[in-house]
Amino acid sequence: NQRAIRIASFNFHEKWGILALLNPLRPDAWPLVTWFWRLDPGGLVLNGDLERKIRRLEWAVRDRDQGELGPRRDEWVTLQGLRQLRDRIVFSADTLVTLDAFIVVTSTPDALDADVALLQARWESLGIHAVPLTWEQARMLQRMWTGQMPGDSADRPRWWRWLMGPADAWWNPRVVPTERVGQVVWPGWGHVTDDPAKGIYVGHTPQNQPVFVDFFQDVNGLAANLLVVGATGNGKSFWLKTLTQGWLAQDWGVVILDVDGEYRALCDAVGGTWIDISDQQAGTVPNPFALPARTGHGPTDAMRMPTMLRTASTVLRLLGSWDAVTDAAVQQAILQAWAARGVTLEHPESWVQDADPPTMADVWAALEAAPDAAAQDARARLWTYWRGADQQILAHATGNWPVMPGSLVVWHLGNIATQGAWGTTTLPPATAARYWLVMQTTWAWLRVRKMQNRWTVVLADEGQRLLAQSVLGPALVDLATTIRKWNGVLAVATNEPHALWDTPAGQGMWNAAPIKAFLRVESQQVRATAEALHMPQRVATALQALPPQHVLLRMRDGFQDAWTQVRAIVPPEEEAWYRTRARRTS
Ligand SMILES: Nc1ncnc2c1ncn2[C@@H]1O[C@H](COP(=O)(O)OP(=O)(O)OP(=O)(O)O)[C@@H](O)[C@H]1O
Ligand SMILES: [Mg+2]
Repeated sequence: NQRAIRIASFNFHEKWGILALLNPLRPDAWPLVTWFWRLDPGGLVLNGDLERKIRRLEWAVRDRDQGELGPRRDEWVTLQGLRQLRDRIVFSADTLVTLDAFIVVTSTPDALDADVALLQARWESLGIHAVPLTWEQARMLQRMWTGQMPGDSADRPRWWRWLMGPADAWWNPRVVPTERVGQVVWPGWGHVTDDPAKGIYVGHTPQNQPVFVDFFQDVNGLAANLLVVGATGNGKSFWLKTLTQGWLAQDWGVVILDVDGEYRALCDAVGGTWIDISDQQAGTVPNPFALPARTGHGPTDAMRMPTMLRTASTVLRLLGSWDAVTDAAVQQAILQAWAARGVTLEHPESWVQDADPPTMADVWAALEAAPDAAAQDARARLWTYWRGADQQILAHATGNWPVMPGSLVVWHLGNIATQGAWGTTTLPPATAARYWLVMQTTWAWLRVRKMQNRWTVVLADEGQRLLAQSVLGPALVDLATTIRKWNGVLAVATNEPHALWDTPAGQGMWNAAPIKAFLRVESQQVRATAEALHMPQRVATALQALPPQHVLLRMRDGFQDAWTQVRAIVPPEEEAWYRTRARRTS
């Protein structure tokens, strides 16, 4: 029961001339390893071999665990992969596939043979049979596998036999489940997830491997929030735009909180909905008196009208001093305005979400018509926001989006100056009210989409500015813990690593985000970041040397941290939509 992996060795002098690409993650000129692989449906029976292999690796890992350097990453990864493989075979009779792999090793001429021998030995020790190919065989194989030469998979056995000659007699490809292919075979730092069809493209490794991340679930069965940290100008937004494309391509909904309007080009390019609430003189703000959509969840739907009333009174409270008596008077006025449309609290069957909801003018009129003192008092309090200088906030509150309009929505929030720690900047009342309505509307969409079993990302770029605000800061931290149970992911980017450990909001975000992404941070911050966030030495070293636009990505792999370095590669025409930089006014 042999397993075979073909290892092809190349001399970089002859054809490849890519010394510059030698694996930069290793200081000691470790070879560049590229691998090509194919999967075919297949089968596997658990045998003693696999058990022995697992036990051998367990010993190796335990042994090194005692040592100073700890267990070797590649052995850990392999061990996890084999255990999963075993568990799947034993416990879930999973569908398995056959993997053929073809590895190209590039190294300096003097080290090439030794490098190949070392890799070969490592794989042999795992029971993977590795056979060096001749230069011609390897060239041919690579051209077929990279599509430069015809030879589709139906044809494969024939060309393979032709290529390999009689040696093929013992060829028996390694068999692993798709999900673990990457971890089982990949010998270095790379992490090729599970099923690329399910994952979101996040970039290529320095070894030129595409990396896909599965945001659906982490080890606890919750969706995986994402936290992005990096100094300004190093590519956070660019990377998030790449991910946005990936999410949309996988039928996720994406809701973006855009401070500076830098997502406009992308939004237009993909036909998203742009909602500009930044302008006090124009634009449209969600109507606080609109009814949330039906979700199909009985208890939630029974609260639709009360939920609207609560939102409305929160908005009015944010606008000024408030008390229970005034609140009740305004609620009466809202109900009267709705009743004029045939919708009443007592008759849920009359709650039509897309019936033209009352506007502030209608509620004002209802207050004016009410004889009691409380209504007149409420009117006086509301005057500033209705007739006074701030009237615009309510005049534009007419937007009615009971369900998410399309798969991409960008809320253009506007560039609000922030000072101080996260959650401390008090907003002007009118802005606070607008932001509150944005969050309530987003929650309503999430509620509906959850019941439809559809996935949604809420993306908060410029997190250091959003989290500092009295309304959005707490709302985002709150969202971080809930959205993961609601078919959703919160993605937050910040250029202030300190806030992650200095503030409760930062710690909350950190804890609720299983996937972390680091871009370059300022050199004087590297050490503090590495220490405060308990980065393994190897990762800290990589962070220190991280080139701009590269992302050091931390995922959960079983109970392990899996670190990968990637850089997003996008087609030039898409790049044009991503390049819009933020324009600062604060
Ligand atoms: N993967 C990439 N490929 C090509 N260009 C990139 C890539 N990543 C970043 N860039 C370039 O770098 C510029 C700055 O990146 P970006 O705006 O994403 O930085 P940022 O980290 O969001 O900064 P800030 O904190 O100031 O918002 C982009 O406009 C783009 O031109
Ligand atoms: Mg940015």
